[in-house]
Amino acid sequence: MAMTATISTQSPAPRPQASALPPGVDIKVRRPKLDYPADTRDWAGDNNAFSRFMEGLSMLFPEGERFFVESVNKYRDQITDPVLKKQVSAFAAQEGMHAVEHHKYNVRAAGPLVEELEAVAGLLRRPAVQRFLSPMNRLAITVALEHFTAIMADELLRNRVYANEMEPHHAKLWLWHAVEETEHKAVAFDVYRAVGGGFVRRAAIMQVMTTLFVFGSAGLLTRLLRQDGRRVSARDAGRFLNLAFGNPGFFRQVFPAWLQFFRPTFHPWDHDNSDLIARWKSEYADA
Ligand SMILES: [Fe+2]
Ligand SMILES: [Fe+2]
Repeated sequence: MAMTATISTQSPAPRPQASALPPGVDIKVRRPKLDYPADTRDWAGDNNAFSRFMEGLSMLFPEGERFFVESVNKYRDQITDPVLKKQVSAFAAQEGMHAVEHHKYNVRAAGPLVEELEAVAGLLRRPAVQRFLSPMNRLAITVALEHFTAIMADELLRNRVYANEMEPHHAKLWLWHAVEETEHKAVAFDVYRAVGGGFVRRAAIMQVMTTLFVFGSAGLLTRLLRQDGRRVSARDAGRFLNLAFGNPGFFRQVFPAWLQFFRPTFHPWDHDNSDLIARWKSEYADA
């Protein structure tokens, strides 16, 4: 029997670099209509510690998210998969919108202090710090912090006790941001993997960034409470600590998901939480 061999003159299709998104998940750029009643100072649980904690977290977003986008875009030319390239654009657009909305939110919360407080995350974008961090380390920082935001988003969307404590206009901002963090949770990771980023680097950087996050958010909480000028009552302190560490214990709940990052074969979509995105879409008409 005669054997024939065909030699293709076409170059092979580029290897996929983007991970497949679960059915129904799309990295969609939204422009939600957000406004906040003027009389909701203690908008989270009628509790100044809880409200100032969330506002402190929000102070990290505008500069932090600009840093993420810059770190990922630095590798744009090395991405050969058109699907991942498109995801990077959608990721940048979502993070850009988050930065804008959280900055407006931060001005409302901190007034003239806003620049000083946003500068905490802005340290990452300072030329002196950028010179010290290689592009690969900046990308690994982004991968670590994107996992951080993804696991916090998961808990916020899954367990509605936190959002139910919030004034609904404020809850809308936090839930919208959480959904989009879930949609794009693998983009920075896939870029990191595509350009040769390894396990040891991302695992080491996650430990450093977790420590910085703990000190950074505690510092911002303290600064905002000082500006507030009111003592935290025993009732408010107890309720806040219980939500954070007791029952349900936000940080206790996210800890197992944080640990998952230290598996060498970890991928953000190992945990398919697309049901949370679908639930949010069914609840918000402008989703
Ligand atoms: Fe974001
Ligand atoms: Fe993000």
